[in-house]
Amino acid sequence: MCGIVGYTGAKAAGELLLGSLELLEHRGYDSVGIACRDSETDEICIQKCVGRVRDLKMVCEANPVHSTCGIGHTRWATHGGVYEKNAHPHQCGKVTIVHNGIVENYRELIEDYNLQGVLRSETDTEVVAALMDVYYEGDAETTIKKVVRKLRGTFALVMMFEDKPGVIYAIRNVSPIVVAKCEDGMMLASDLTALGNFTKEYFVMPEYSILKLEPNTMSIKDMDGNEVEPEMLKLDWKVSELGKNGYPFYMEKEIMEQPNAFYETIKTRIDKGLPNLLGDGVPDSLLTDCKRICIVACGTAMHVGLVTQALVKSVLQMHIDVELASEYMYSDPVIDQDTLVIAVSQSGETVDTLEAVKYAKARGAKCMAVLNVRGSSISRVCDYVLYTEAGPEIAVASTKAYTTQLAVMFMLIAKMAQLRGVMTEEEVKTYIAELQKVPEKMKAILDRRSEIHVIAKEVLESKDLFMIGRGMDYSILLEGSLKLKEVSYIHSEAYASGELKHGPIALITEGIPVVALVTQRKIMSKELSNIKEVKARGANVVLFIKEELGAQLKEDYNVVMLPNLEDKFMVFPAVVALQLLAYYVSSDKGFDVDKPRNLAKVVTVE
Ligand code: F6R
Repeated sequence: MCGIVGYTGAKAAGELLLGSLELLEHRGYDSVGIACRDSETDEICIQKCVGRVRDLKMVCEANPVHSTCGIGHTRWATHGGVYEKNAHPHQCGKVTIVHNGIVENYRELIEDYNLQGVLRSETDTEVVAALMDVYYEGDAETTIKKVVRKLRGTFALVMMFEDKPGVIYAIRNVSPIVVAKCEDGMMLASDLTALGNFTKEYFVMPEYSILKLEPNTMSIKDMDGNEVEPEMLKLDWKVSELGKNGYPFYMEKEIMEQPNAFYETIKTRIDKGLPNLLGDGVPDSLLTDCKRICIVACGTAMHVGLVTQALVKSVLQMHIDVELASEYMYSDPVIDQDTLVIAVSQSGETVDTLEAVKYAKARGAKCMAVLNVRGSSISRVCDYVLYTEAGPEIAVASTKAYTTQLAVMFMLIAKMAQLRGVMTEEEVKTYIAELQKVPEKMKAILDRRSEIHVIAKEVLESKDLFMIGRGMDYSILLEGSLKLKEVSYIHSEAYASGELKHGPIALITEGIPVVALVTQRKIMSKELSNIKEVKARGANVVLFIKEELGAQLKEDYNVVMLPNLEDKFMVFPAVVALQLLAYYVSSDKGFDVDKPRNLAKVVTVE
């Protein structure tokens, strides 16, 4: 969480930092600030405010600073409320700092070093700046080492020292920093979206190394002073993928990109109609030898786990657990060498997922990850990584990450089914052929998005909404419901329809909206009975149903017909329809769809 950027070079730093912070706003957007060294006076000038980058731009336009070196930050508040005094950068004496993460022992540090008198904010960050200033005697690297040894927690710290013009220092533990040499200088940021316009090559800063950026050079040294050679990575996102391409919101653009993102994710993993994971470096033995699977993930990625679980049980008949990554290590999980732990994460930086993988690995599990961002922290702790080809996902509400993560999961299960002999080669080919139809079916529902927009208008004013379905439909609705609540602020709950009579039906009253999903033939009649039960109690039912199952129901319900695929694959058109519903409700309500209240795209604090 929180976006960090730093630049030193020949360009106008203020403009560059503000432009980059705008691209990092999905990491936090309650307040924002930059510190630029004035090229004429050599002073470090801090400009900050509560609100968005666009608000800071106005502040900076009114008081321009000519500078070619600076650091910036967009905040997601942890320690201290959303006030200007808590916005970064923080300055104590000769040290100016921005920070992402949480310094857990900041109270002890205040006491031990008697810092109370110098602090003006409520943040843990200012304590680090104050401590740096206590130790600083002109040698930045020695100071950083001394201070960092005293910190407990996670941090990405980026600093400027008053008497070191043109120089930016950084150090990190867990919280990410990526670095690039650009045409006109050196740049760092907390994620790649800020670098995409400037470079095609970058590296991930190694933990507990000190980075020193100067306009034409950079150095990285470990805590013992040895030079560290970073591993250069290619940034394969096109710059055009970083814009909204004419859409009002990234969320709409990303929903619309799904057929292509899905296609890109599966195309290189199919060979002669069969699944092929050789390019991912996954050995067959990993998939044949494991006795149980455990998926660890958070939020939408965890919902990918739930759909995968339904599939693994029905196709592979294998034991599979899906664990909330934040609960994992506190729940005494069963882990052994026969367990394949699969972490699912768009960013690859979600700290709960990262910690869950480290925990499982330390106990002997084989760890695999399904990720979107190359070089991310989770990729570096896992034994195997399968990447999705979603491209940059900027909207805070995840959409194309979900469908591409599932694309990988469907491939993985096909491969396991083939290797374990639970499907014949012909059956696997039929399964893959059905998977190849998914992009066209997603496109079919996207082409009919105006129908979903009409339905969205009907639920716009609701305070509460329920979503009901059974089996895989229930798992899909958990995601649909999360999407709706996070972007529209409507209280939405997904229930397994069979559970309604055990309590939740007490909440069904005249006119309450209920979204029902029916895509699985074998449980269809039971699902329809449950829908009748809520209708009989006055619910205003909207039915999303697989076309071939719902032909006769058009008269009785407000119906959205979902393009036909074999039942197992219906998650794809169904979730796209639910994403569109959430999107239209939010945009029609006039909300900032891409930046929902209190949320941030990358969750790097526990
Ligand atoms: C919801 C959403 C979040 C993320 C979760 C995990 O729309 O985006 O629930 O899915 O924070 O993030 P990653 O996938 O980056 O680990």
